[in-house]
Amino acid sequence: MAPERHPGPPPPAGPPSTDTPLLTMHGITKAFPGVRALDGVDLDVAAGETHCLLGQNGAGKSTLIKVLAGVHQPDAGEIRWRGAPVVLKSPVAAMRLGIATIYQELDLVPHLSVAENVHLGHEPATAGFLRSREARSRTADLLRRLGHPGIDPGARVGSLSAAGQQIASMARALSHDVRLIVMDEPSAALDPDEVAGLFRIVAGLTGAGVAVVYISHRLEEVRRAGDRVTVLKDGRAVARGLDARTTPTRDIVTLMTGRTVEHAFPVRHTLPVRRPTAAADAAPAPVLTVRGLARRGEFAPLDLDLYPGEILGLGERAGRGEGVR
Ligand SMILES: Nc1ncnc2c1ncn2[C@@H]1O[C@H](COP(=O)(O)OP(=O)(O)O)[C@@H](O)[C@H]1O
Ligand SMILES: [Mg+2]
Repeated sequence: MAPERHPGPPPPAGPPSTDTPLLTMHGITKAFPGVRALDGVDLDVAAGETHCLLGQNGAGKSTLIKVLAGVHQPDAGEIRWRGAPVVLKSPVAAMRLGIATIYQELDLVPHLSVAENVHLGHEPATAGFLRSREARSRTADLLRRLGHPGIDPGARVGSLSAAGQQIASMARALSHDVRLIVMDEPSAALDPDEVAGLFRIVAGLTGAGVAVVYISHRLEEVRRAGDRVTVLKDGRAVARGLDARTTPTRDIVTLMTGRTVEHAFPVRHTLPVRRPTAAADAAPAPVLTVRGLARRGEFAPLDLDLYPGEILGLGERAGRGEGVR
């Protein structure tokens, strides 16, 4: 979908400055044995935008970006990069174009240092000593650019926190001449401060004209960081190029789930477990009722009712065999 054009001077940051998207994926199809992970997916991304890819687990998000990263070959479909058709035969081919991916399962080598990880896969230079000194100082520059000057380029990657490892992975991406960075669920392992730091990095990248494809299933992140949204469901793009800030949440949830919001967030039934009989007419019947279930030495008699659409948590106080709802 072509980006909306504004009359007068263009906005200082954010989406599209030209009519040719940086990236166009068209009709991408990919099957694994027994699963059609992608079924004719279209995606277009403009330079300098944060394009969010949303969808429930299993929707095909990771598969789509692995096609873009040259990890998977599509069964059908076309990829255009700055208007020209390309075949991404390998991750190196994608990297050469300036496409970098921060994977959900980070692919760093834990026993190597940050600097070594950052420079893995780069063309070897001259003398080893000089190379490693240069690698460290270049890595230190990248870490500063990412707002993390405190990370030691010589530290083993395996000794860093999840957030630190992600920063190392981003430093590696930025060590190439990158034009598009894909981040697959980057916030999953981060605390709120670290997520704020991540968003600052994303804003810095897009401000410099780099495109970011940001995968998440957290709507509030899409609102905060995104320009446009493409929604995947069951391997299809059910909406493309929606405005990340103004598209109503209920519309996005309905697109992601195929259900209306009322169904996506079922009515909660409050405790206590036993309802007053007067309300029984209006209340739905439980789908599971358990009374007096016990196992000697394991748990004391317990009662529970599970209602339609309810998520029932079962826990215990450590070692006491007492069910807690
Ligand atoms: N390498 C693979 N082999 C077989 N099936 C896969 C593979 N990768 C993904 N799938 C399947 O493809 C579908 C889409 O998965 P994925 O792209 O990981 O979804 P998402 O990232 O949106 O959660 C799922 O049904 C998943 O089980
Ligand atoms: Mg995934």
